[in-house]
Amino acid sequence: MLRMTIPVTRPFTGDEEKNATAEVVESGWLTQGPRVTEFENKVASYVGASHAIATTSCTTSLQLALELCNITPGDEVILPSYTWIATANVIRMVGAQPVFVDIDLDTMNISPAALKGAITKKTRAILPVHQFGLPADLDAISEIAKPHGITIVEDAACAIGSSYKNQPVGGLGNITCFSFHPRKVITTGEGGMLVTEDENMARSARILLNHGASVSDIAKHKADTVEALLAEEFCEVGYNYRMTNLQGALGVVQMDRLAFILAARNEKAELYSDAFAKLPFVIPPETPKYATPNWQSYAVRICDECPVDRNTVAQRLLNVGIACRPAYMACHVQPEYRGMVSDTNLPNTMKALQSLLILPLYPQMTEAEQSYVIKALSDATSE
Ligand SMILES: Cc1ncc(COP(=O)(O)O)c(C=O)c1O
Repeated sequence: MLRMTIPVTRPFTGDEEKNATAEVVESGWLTQGPRVTEFENKVASYVGASHAIATTSCTTSLQLALELCNITPGDEVILPSYTWIATANVIRMVGAQPVFVDIDLDTMNISPAALKGAITKKTRAILPVHQFGLPADLDAISEIAKPHGITIVEDAACAIGSSYKNQPVGGLGNITCFSFHPRKVITTGEGGMLVTEDENMARSARILLNHGASVSDIAKHKADTVEALLAEEFCEVGYNYRMTNLQGALGVVQMDRLAFILAARNEKAELYSDAFAKLPFVIPPETPKYATPNWQSYAVRICDECPVDRNTVAQRLLNVGIACRPAYMACHVQPEYRGMVSDTNLPNTMKALQSLLILPLYPQMTEAEQSYVIKALSDATSE
């Protein structure tokens, strides 16, 4: 077979993105402006939420969300250890204590049973992560959180376009944060979005992300009296988490592509899963009935009976030009968070670290490329 070079992902962009960003450059309005508002409106209407506020990243959206929920030092926030480090870091950024719990291996998402056992009098929030774009079991999480008055902030970095019980993630009434990093299904280069039903929170988020200014850039742009221009006040310490108008323009075009991207990713994921079901040492991902994933990542597990270990499998794929990602990551084994919880308390997380392998998946992937990956994985899991 001819050697191929296959990336783990590839953003899906074209002339529309080029033209949309060129128009912004020509307009002279480069940072937060009308294209950002348009992008926000598209996301809000797609997910079915009242307010969508664009930011520089999912990380900054999550930080704003925790700050606006008044999470402060002394508070505990529960999250799965099996997530990107940002989920834990934002808890630290507001001075609170991350409490790591285990995942369920069939979903790679927070285990409701483990979550239940971790609640204390200090628990103020839960950060469920929709890992690889597969929604966590939000009803089970709400059932545990609600009686304690615990806030749910969904880390939906990977989950734009995913649905839970046929409702888009972001439209289920919780504060939800998305990422538009190029590793995600749609991208603005960097970028994030905070989605909420709470009007006051939305207003405060817009102030906080713009240095604490009481008047938005757009309002300032439209101001035609000296009084309106002098009305600006700074009543709190804010940040510069503004999305640029260039990113907004990208986001608008990418949202128009979302339905196509989701269908293409789903088709390719099905092709993989059918093929991998026939391989003896490969466990394809499961999709619970309540979830419609966006297939942001396609992750298999290499089973214990495989004659070679996961790292050898990954190396063999790399050797034949296939970019893959072994393990993903667990926060509690990183130096910054080490010692907070023992590995034995998170057995499924440790199992995922040892056995998981992310394979290439992107809308432009050809059948020849997928066949190449399938054949290579079959070879790589043999003696
Ligand atoms: C689960 C999760 N949370 C948060 C983030 C952070 O997103 P961003 O890079 O937009 O800050 C990521 C990014 O990969 C992620 O996967």
